[in-house]
Amino acid sequence: MEFSVKSGSPEKQRSACIVVGVFEPRRLTSVAEQLDVISEGYISNLLRRGDLEGRAGQMLLLHQVPNILSERVLLVGCGKERELDERQYKQIISKTIKTLNETGSMEAVSFLTELHVKGRDTYWKVRQAVEATQDSLYTFLQLKTKKDELRRPLRKIVFNVPTRRELPIGERALAHGLAVADGAKTAKDVANMPPNICNPAYLLKQAEQLETQYDNLHVSSVNEQQMDELGMHSYLAVGRGSANESIMTIMEHKGGPADQAPIVLVGKGLTFDSGGISIKPGQGMDEMKYDMGGAASVLGAMHTISELNLPINIIGLLVGCENMPDANAYRPGDILTTMSGQTVEVLNTDAEGRLVLCDALTYVERFDPELVIDIATLTGACVIALGAHASGIMSNHNPLAHELINASEQSGDKAWRLPLWDEYQEQIESPFADMANVGGRPAGTITAACFLSRFTKKYNWAHMDIAGTAWTGGKNKGSTGRPVPMLSQFLMNRAGIESED
Ligand code: BES
Ligand code: MN
Ligand code: ZN
Repeated sequence: MEFSVKSGSPEKQRSACIVVGVFEPRRLTSVAEQLDVISEGYISNLLRRGDLEGRAGQMLLLHQVPNILSERVLLVGCGKERELDERQYKQIISKTIKTLNETGSMEAVSFLTELHVKGRDTYWKVRQAVEATQDSLYTFLQLKTKKDELRRPLRKIVFNVPTRRELPIGERALAHGLAVADGAKTAKDVANMPPNICNPAYLLKQAEQLETQYDNLHVSSVNEQQMDELGMHSYLAVGRGSANESIMTIMEHKGGPADQAPIVLVGKGLTFDSGGISIKPGQGMDEMKYDMGGAASVLGAMHTISELNLPINIIGLLVGCENMPDANAYRPGDILTTMSGQTVEVLNTDAEGRLVLCDALTYVERFDPELVIDIATLTGACVIALGAHASGIMSNHNPLAHELINASEQSGDKAWRLPLWDEYQEQIESPFADMANVGGRPAGTITAACFLSRFTKKYNWAHMDIAGTAWTGGKNKGSTGRPVPMLSQFLMNRAGIESED
């Protein structure tokens, strides 16, 4: 897909399609108004006859509009003018892109970026438009033998900005939006890959593939033998029932001064989570290939920040592992010694994410991190608490939690904080070990974070539970690429990248 920004008037465009908005009820945007004047009332006539009310998401494709140079005009319903918010804007863009893609316009000039969205500027509108476009055109067809491809797909889109003065801002938004969209695509591709292909070694291979593209990116890995020497017995226990070796991939982006403390991202990379001996029910178990969504988002964010070449040091870990039942598998009742020296009584082998993460979180102490964020599809309880709309955030450092929430609001990749009070710690006490790996059903998301908090005392840390946001299930099954946009935004903020130079 080819993107550009331009500043021009609608009637001067010579394109396969020009896209303009109509508000409810039957009210032309100023751009549509311009076309209406040139076409001698052609558009307002149609509206009067009732062809388009202007409800959000309504589409009306017109051909050969009188006196208009472009082949087609796509009228897009934008709802009530005063109600146009961020969510509706993104939905309108997505629907428009899908319509263009399916109706034979290989190129288009969109004036939707000129719509007034409460509290948002041109930078935001162009950037979101780019991200929403790439998101809505995403497909995963690598493993289909018959790919029913469109004969005339959308190839080129121009986003119009209101004034020439805003062109540089539009260009910047475009570059940032593309970098974020590339990262999200990387995350989706690896997450959608089936678990017989995408195993811990595959995650490493994807990181190495990125390494070849960027000079500042360096990849290394820790295998099972090395984990054993490091004392990562909790991590190793989870992978013991699997024929696929556990591999922890380390990606280092060196964009800042050599002595600058790095920001560390740690992604849960369960390439398949059967539950192990505490096996999961069969229904929907296929979706547990997405249990590496945290690692996928770290890989994606590393792609984005490499593309932007952010001038700070960032390290990403893909904590690769597979949880399977087997004669060799770990069991309920086992007591494990973690890399930190603390012991854990396993009460449920399906609470495996925290067991791999705790050792990775101890491992990263060696980097003397500025801060650490782990990202994990950790608990079904988070899906119950927040649904598919927001990721959960828990942190031992209030300013960090606020920064993350801020980044989520800027990027539209929503997140919400849950408390991490000491009261909850009692739920994971064990009579035989320093802690148990589960804390019962109440506040399952928080007790999982409580478990991790016992391994993150040496640095500022935040935990993101993305169980509800990383993928969608059912017939529209697929990775969402979340939370690549918000992680990227957080890192851009940290690097001092703004919408203007
Ligand atoms: N990967 C799952 C969490 C999960 C479940 C994410 C469903 C998305 C949808 C995790 O490893 C797990 O199984 N967690 C258990 C923890 C429980 C045993 C304390 C859960 O949430 O049921
Ligand atoms: Mn599990
Ligand atoms: Zn899991």
